[in-house]
Amino acid sequence: MTDETTRIESLKSNCVEPGEVIATTNLWKTYVMGDQEVHALRGVNLRIKHNEYVAIMGPSGSGKSTLMNLIGCLDSPTRGTYCLNGFDVSKLSDDELARIRNKEIGFVFQTFNLLARASALHNVELPLIYNGTSATARIERAKEVLTSVGLGSRMDHKPNEMSGGQRQRVAIARALVNSPSIILADEPTGNLDSKTGDEIMALFDELHARGNTIILVTHEPDIAEYAHRIVTIRDGVIANDHLSSRIRTPETV
Ligand SMILES: Nc1ncnc2c1ncn2[C@@H]1O[C@H](COP(=O)(O)OP(=O)(O)O)[C@@H](O)[C@H]1O
Ligand SMILES: [Mg+2]
Repeated sequence: MTDETTRIESLKSNCVEPGEVIATTNLWKTYVMGDQEVHALRGVNLRIKHNEYVAIMGPSGSGKSTLMNLIGCLDSPTRGTYCLNGFDVSKLSDDELARIRNKEIGFVFQTFNLLARASALHNVELPLIYNGTSATARIERAKEVLTSVGLGSRMDHKPNEMSGGQRQRVAIARALVNSPSIILADEPTGNLDSKTGDEIMALFDELHARGNTIILVTHEPDIAEYAHRIVTIRDGVIANDHLSSRIRTPETV
């Protein structure tokens, strides 16, 4: 192990149960705008195990993206604790948090968020530049991941030379390039037609089968049914948490 890895490992505490990767306790997020306070999350308790496939549903404004941003360590809670894979996130410095986030989490967004003027290959190798991987290793890894999402013959194309579904595959390859254990996807099919959306969901199925933990935000019930567990949030609290019909057995209905 490098000194850096040893140092990061030493920051671990016993804040998740064995087998869990995510545990939030009484998580609140309050946005302050002028003299107004918006309580986007009001005490969320959510535990997610390794290799679970969870959809987070709820109407617009219910707090889905806020919860995703907290789970993804893109923002910090106003109150409550968040434990990610053994790390109590509130106890980490910004720098430590960024390192853990890059290692543990891959993000996929509704609008793909690709660099418009860069090839698929460059978009995918970008996260590896930040962690100091050599150029040869970066290109080899980016090619490998692009091939695994079915884009082996499109690596030199720029986003505007690709379809929406292909762009989202590039974004998924970019999310996978650091081999994160958790994939967070916020409305990943929101900008796609339903056939292309189904193809992207088939790819998420594959990632799940390869051992990833998947957390997917959607307001579409058809898309949520791809997951194995559906958590519904309403006005900043969990209103429902159940298995999807896809894996429900007669005993558990
Ligand atoms: N950066 C922000 N500043 C102020 N209010 C925000 C901000 N982000 C979200 N909100 C408010 O928090 C609530 C939850 O928003 P959000 O998490 O985006 O919901 P969803 O993703 O379910 O549509 C909404 O009332 C929204 O207006
Ligand atoms: Mg949202």
